[in-house]
Amino acid sequence: MDTTRILFVCLGNICRSPVAEAIMKQRARERGLEGTIIADSAGTGGWHVGELPDERARRHGAARGYAVNSRARQFDPDADFAAFDLIVGMDEQNVRDLERMASRPGEREKVRRATDFCRSFRRHAGVPDPYFGGASGFELVMDMLEETAEGILESLGVEREDTPRSSRPGRIAPGS
Ligand code: 4NP
Repeated sequence: MDTTRILFVCLGNICRSPVAEAIMKQRARERGLEGTIIADSAGTGGWHVGELPDERARRHGAARGYAVNSRARQFDPDADFAAFDLIVGMDEQNVRDLERMASRPGEREKVRRATDFCRSFRRHAGVPDPYFGGASGFELVMDMLEETAEGILESLGVEREDTPRSSRPGRIAPGS
């Protein structure tokens, strides 16, 4: 499998996209693909550059076993469009901002919305900004981004973690 570099992008890079990065890294690691699927995150804004993720994002992530600990940085169109194969905006505004920054052939086509990869949240406009809300907002972010990570893996041809082993193609069902 070729190396795939994925950049998750939100507004501040302290709530949603560092969670997406941590989930993607963990799901790749669980499958032994940590060297093959590379995840990073960035913000369209620069207010929080250098900061650790929001304490709530770190705490809700840790409760599900994810290390949400990357330092915030701002999306750099000159470097990031070339360095990444897939650039995943959290909401419609992020996607619009990223598409506006695309200037060279092929760059715009790398931009996708996180919910495009979801199963149950596919019809949602995007992953809502939890910054000014409460704990339930962070739990929703985690639920959505777990689906996003699994959907991205599926799009890359990696089998789903939530598919029962017995029903995976090429596996022998217990008792058969
Ligand atoms: P994020 O959340 O885009 O998910 O990192 C936000 C963090 C900070 C701000 C807005 C959204 N802010 O306005 O500072």
